[in-house]
Amino acid sequence: MAPSPREATPKLGQAMEDCREKVNKTVQSLLPATDLIEAPLFDAMRYAVLNGGKRLRPFMVLESARVFGVDASRARRVAAAAEFVHCYSLAHDDLPAMDNSDLRRGKPSLHKKFDEATALLAGDALLTLAFEILSDPETHEDPRVRIELVANLSGAIGMHGMVGGQMLDLIGEKQEFDVGTISRLQRLKTGKLIAFCCEAGAILGKANPAHRQALRNYAHDLGLAFQVTDDLLDVEGNVHEIGKPTGQDGKKATFVSAMGREQARARAEMLVDQAISHLRIFDEGRVDLLKDLARYVLERRV
Ligand code: IPE
Ligand code: IPE
Ligand code: MG
Ligand code: MG
Ligand code: MG
Repeated sequence: MAPSPREATPKLGQAMEDCREKVNKTVQSLLPATDLIEAPLFDAMRYAVLNGGKRLRPFMVLESARVFGVDASRARRVAAAAEFVHCYSLAHDDLPAMDNSDLRRGKPSLHKKFDEATALLAGDALLTLAFEILSDPETHEDPRVRIELVANLSGAIGMHGMVGGQMLDLIGEKQEFDVGTISRLQRLKTGKLIAFCCEAGAILGKANPAHRQALRNYAHDLGLAFQVTDDLLDVEGNVHEIGKPTGQDGKKATFVSAMGREQARARAEMLVDQAISHLRIFDEGRVDLLKDLARYVLERRV
């Protein structure tokens, strides 16, 4: 589905459009089609990434990098790596053994388009490719920066990050969680990758610790708000707009199931205000798009 940032301000909408174009080009160059015998793997990887998507995580990488004057071609490589990880997580999340979703970004999900084994392998290969990109000197000439990117991303998406959160998500289908545990689940499964994306620009730009911490705090709140609005869209969204099945989270532990839609929305609003307030350390105007992005996360319909 064509992702439409229609609740975005015109400036943010344009910037998100630019980001999509640039990142898609980078994805094409990092993941070209092939005529090797194992081409179906490459086709599946390309389908998983080039099937649409808002490219919010790449946008966070590019914007945080811009704040610190990082070379844009480097930032685009990190943005693509983050999107590869995200798309791997979606491919596995949609599998019958997990959420069993047939639709993703308005199209058949990866295992429907190909098959389950190919979806598993394509996910594995996207995850690995992300680290190959981060560890390549083209991403940054300073090996310490590359190691920091690798360490930060692996911490964000492994057992103490996304994968741990996905495990909690599955356990939450059978066990009742209190709001504190639901928060932890959401921060792990979604928030930590978002935090990596917001911090990546600071890592590439060797930002000072205070600036880096501010971005981390911003992402901490925004990541949770983002998952709360994802859960709201499962109840309030339109399948044609969001491009994935709605009404799927009935048995899941979410803020919406724990506290109802109104309170969940109020929580997301509070988190977005808090996220924006962490950016006050930056000079006026420097982080406007990151502020707009936070508001967009709240208002989005896709
Ligand atoms: C969906 O993420 C999965 C979650 C972590 C909630 P997005 O809403 O960013 O999905 P795309 O990339 O735009 O398809
Ligand atoms: C998925 O959360 C989070 C990850 C893929 C890590 P959801 O299961 O809520 O995402 P959607 O709604 O399928 O996009
Ligand atoms: Mg899921
Ligand atoms: Mg899902
Ligand atoms: Mg969801």
